[in-house]
Amino acid sequence: MTIPTAHLDQEIARRRTFAIISHPDAGKTTITEKLLLYGGAIQEAGSVTAKEGRSHTKSDWMSIEQQRGISISSSALTFEYAGRHVNLLDTPGHQDFSEDTYRTLTAADSALMVLDAARGVQTQTEKLFAVCRNRGIPILTFVNKMDRPAQDPFDLLSQVENTLKITAVPLTWPIGDGPDFKGVYDLQTGQVLAFERTSGGKHRAPMQTAGLDDPRLVDLVGSDLAAKLREDVELIQGAMPEFDPAAFLAGELTPVFFGSAMNNFGVEHFLANFVDLAPPPGPVETNLGERDPDAPFAGFVFKLQANMSKQHRDRTAFMRVMSGHFERGMDVTHTRTGRKLRLSQAHTLFAQDREKVEEAYPGDIVGLVNPGVFQIGDVVSVDPKVTLPSFPRFTPETFATLALKDVGKRKAFMKGLTQLAEEGVVQVFYPTDGARDPYLGAVGPLQFEVFQARLAEEYGVDVELHVTSYQLVRWLAGDAGSVARFARHVEDDQGRPVMLFRSKYDLDYTAEQHPEIEFLPLPRDL
Ligand code: G4P
Repeated sequence: MTIPTAHLDQEIARRRTFAIISHPDAGKTTITEKLLLYGGAIQEAGSVTAKEGRSHTKSDWMSIEQQRGISISSSALTFEYAGRHVNLLDTPGHQDFSEDTYRTLTAADSALMVLDAARGVQTQTEKLFAVCRNRGIPILTFVNKMDRPAQDPFDLLSQVENTLKITAVPLTWPIGDGPDFKGVYDLQTGQVLAFERTSGGKHRAPMQTAGLDDPRLVDLVGSDLAAKLREDVELIQGAMPEFDPAAFLAGELTPVFFGSAMNNFGVEHFLANFVDLAPPPGPVETNLGERDPDAPFAGFVFKLQANMSKQHRDRTAFMRVMSGHFERGMDVTHTRTGRKLRLSQAHTLFAQDREKVEEAYPGDIVGLVNPGVFQIGDVVSVDPKVTLPSFPRFTPETFATLALKDVGKRKAFMKGLTQLAEEGVVQVFYPTDGARDPYLGAVGPLQFEVFQARLAEEYGVDVELHVTSYQLVRWLAGDAGSVARFARHVEDDQGRPVMLFRSKYDLDYTAEQHPEIEFLPLPRDL
């Protein structure tokens, strides 16, 4: 069935697909929950706490899904707000920074960077920010935990500008912090949103508004903070650049909001601004040039996951619709292989509960059952020739050797290794002589633990892991004979020769000694 263009355009225009980037503990889980609350998906956010409550949160959401009929898959949370259809991509395992997170960001049209008001920009914020920056997607900032003692907001903005090299323009301004936190001032509308602590932070935060010159301001926040606010606002208006939507959309400027997610404060205000500011899905760069979202149907796979639940031990490919109208049961081409697929029974679409997705529009995420057909970056489309030019990989910084404890389990081991590597849990480098077990590469050592645990639980295979002193990897090029003679017996999962190094010095020295070998620049991060 073809749908009218006007309808398609309308659906595209109201889509907002984004991801949250933050350092662990900054408040991503809490904000996600509050966004769902304000998105009307849930009426009352349970006081879900991050650590021991994490699985709790998930099961809460699953039952919420059943009650309210909202669509929650393990890869995107979907809700409606102010006539917009919002897809919040789940970037799981953020405690464990991995390739999965990078890949998920390729499916986002914008990102929300959450900062802890006391800690400012932290290491993982920087890494994830760089990924978004390279993709040129717009980034909004929410400074969280204002109810706790915070850094001076001017200092926080300079830190964002200096560390991340992006212009930071506040759209709201905090009034006090910690026990004295009284609310925020909306620099665009001139309203004061007063903060009131609610019991357990469970309900929608009440809001009262008054202008900066409203005599009630002093009543609301006290004379000292009122005077400080007037001073701050004067400074902002005199010395800071104005919010420039074009610079924001180009990824050069980030609008900054302040609040306290745990106390439901500032999140709805952010959301209301977000749906207006953030862009709808745009064109995607393909082998055939830019593909507009209103072109005929095409989608790309950005994430694979094996063994999503104990009941369903199969693999799921998560696809983002990049153009056109998706309907369940439609006939498409898997463009890498030219294979025809019908996206229906054999490739049932499902959310967490295998609920069938009947239709989807650009920006939406659908899960396809993956009987080993899909790889990351694959395209399915009604146009048989569309592919993505290249799908980025991140560069591992730590490497481990692994040894199988029970050699009788070799087959299950190889299956687990392949599937988990396919998902991006780790990258695998194989010794070419086949005599030794592979090396694993990761961004952080925690990924190795996840790999080890999943291999044991999902494939019944125990391995020993030893982190090596290797720190760098380079792909090799040059005359095939020279490379073959030189390469120290390691290749990646596509059979390309690589070499591992213990230090930058080691790499430079080797490169100097072997001018016949080209040490390729690192694969472009997203
Ligand atoms: P994450 O997903 O980014 O890792 O962060 P998460 O939301 O799990 O929040 C990390 C901790 O910060 C949690 O505390 C959470 O309650 C707390 N938090 C989130 N937003 C705010 C806020 O606005 N103000 C304050 N004061 N705290 C906030 P926890 O100690 O891990 O659990 P809990 O026992 O405090 O709930």
